[in-house]
Amino acid sequence: CNIMNEDHLLLLIVCLTDQASCGCCLIQKQVQRLEQITSHTSNTTCFLFSVFPASRSAFSVALNNVQSLSCYGPFTDNRVIVYKHVFINLGDSYNNSTGFFTVPRTGVYSLTVTIYGITSVSETLSTCANLQVNGRVVSTLFEQNGQDKEDSSSDVVAIQLRAGDRVAVNLIKGCFICDNNNHYNTFTGFLLYATD
Ligand SMILES: *[C@@H]1O[C@H](CO)[C@@H](O)[C@H](O)[C@H]1NC(C)=O
Ligand SMILES: *[C@@H]1O[C@H](CO)[C@@H](O)[C@H](O)[C@H]1NC(C)=O
Ligand SMILES: *[C@@H]1O[C@H](CO)[C@@H](O)[C@H](O)[C@H]1NC(C)=O
Repeated sequence: CNIMNEDHLLLLIVCLTDQASCGCCLIQKQVQRLEQITSHTSNTTCFLFSVFPASRSAFSVALNNVQSLSCYGPFTDNRVIVYKHVFINLGDSYNNSTGFFTVPRTGVYSLTVTIYGITSVSETLSTCANLQVNGRVVSTLFEQNGQDKEDSSSDVVAIQLRAGDRVAVNLIKGCFICDNNNHYNTFTGFLLYATD
């Protein structure tokens, strides 16, 4: 841990190959700031190296980005919701053609789902979905249209996930959701901290 120059070189190389997910500029700035404050240059660098593999992971997507309201469902079977509008997909772990978020790194994640649906006066429909990890239901959002025709439901969980786990939102059979460029339906996840 005393070869300061080589450490800096490595930091730069890793940053160049992993710019999207490592937040390298922030780390480099922190190194420079800490070096100014302390004289423990090589220790500071080594410490930052030990936390460096905690690459960043965040995705946030919405159902669509269309002008006029468009509904998905109801269907006679359960279906994974493929969110097409991408706000952010840091690390590219959310696949916008399958709807699955593949966990890049074992750790504690925050997952949030919001669903919305609106029916015409004559219909009674439910706005419902569930959050799944490897096909296992983690939580369910459920709103049945009653007096009002608009329904919305949200859910936030912090959960331990393992690298390779597949996370998705499933539209429950018989349920529907609607969206436009107001983004009433969103699916968001990010790594709080790595645990491997
Ligand atoms: C690095 O840290 C160790 C243990 O904390 C300390 O003994 C050593 O003097 C430090 N080295 C430098 C260059 O600051
Ligand atoms: C969907 O993902 C692909 C591949 O990662 C990307 O090129 C494309 O821009 C994404 N689509 C949207 C709408 O973000
Ligand atoms: C998304 O999933 C499809 C189907 O499995 C696959 O062909 C495609 O390469 C994936 N896209 C990305 C960006 O991984």
